[in-house]
Amino acid sequence: MKIENSVFLVTGAGSGLGAGTARMLVAQGGKVLLVDRNPELGEALAHELGASAAFAQADVANEEEAAKAVSVALSHFGKLDALINSVVVVPAEKMIGRDGPHRLESFSRTVRVNLVGTFNMLRLVAAELVHNTPDADGERGVIINTASVAAFEGQIGQAGFAASMAGIVGLTLPVARELAQSGVRVMSIAPGMMETTMMSSLPEEVQTSLGKVVPFPARLGKAQEFAALVCHIVQNSYLNGEVIRLDGALRMSAR
Ligand SMILES: NC(=O)c1ccc[n+]([C@@H]2O[C@H](COP(=O)([O-])OP(=O)(O)OC[C@H]3O[C@@H](n4cnc5c(N)ncnc54)[C@H](O)[C@@H]3O)[C@@H](O)[C@H]2O)c1
Repeated sequence: MKIENSVFLVTGAGSGLGAGTARMLVAQGGKVLLVDRNPELGEALAHELGASAAFAQADVANEEEAAKAVSVALSHFGKLDALINSVVVVPAEKMIGRDGPHRLESFSRTVRVNLVGTFNMLRLVAAELVHNTPDADGERGVIINTASVAAFEGQIGQAGFAASMAGIVGLTLPVARELAQSGVRVMSIAPGMMETTMMSSLPEEVQTSLGKVVPFPARLGKAQEFAALVCHIVQNSYLNGEVIRLDGALRMSAR
């Protein structure tokens, strides 16, 4: 699929990996509907990106709000070619903490936002993509989810986060298999430690020491490196049904 003149719905677009991806897609001639629950962040980025971008406020895990965001993409840009899912909440909580067992509410909330939210957008956007006119290769669209290396090596305190990311890894192949008959590809990216809001709130020396545990390059990954992989997946039709680690060979330790 070409990026130029294609329409992308990017979730979690107000910050971090989603924002970096939206910037690169627009720089390469794409049009982007930015979706985020934070209106200040989303509107500021839409303003920065100009006529090639628009913003819709939505909680991705909410049925009505997500459906409305999809209809804004269609009414504003007249079509939809791809979805980039990049929403996250990253709580840390031990199974047995000082105040007792892991709260059920916080586990459910993490799975709801990260996994159910990703699935909600995926099902709604897929239902539109299957009606697109296929290109010469028979392709009608592409969906790229963001998981994490925590799906494979979750650390202590990450039961909810790791479970939600493993859920995204798990749904990638079955959904890709089903949508293959409609010419819609489904991929996921599992980043390691990336230099985004989550990380940049940490002191610089902590960021540097975290970066040193990455085999090569020994630093945090950049949002542009994530965005470059998204752009490659969009343009390479033979990538389908797979999860790609983007982590400088990092394998997370237990803590
Ligand atoms: N930063 C990292 O080191 C890292 C590592 C591995 C995986 N990831 C994955 O990358 C993705 C994005 O991470 P990031 O670092 O860019 O995060 P971030 O916090 O910078 O951005 C997340 C965005 O999602 C929005 N958001 C949160 N809940 C929402 C909801 N319910 N509905 C709509 N928007 C919502 C926030 O407002 C924010 O703008 C996540 O899937 C995360 O698991 C990040």
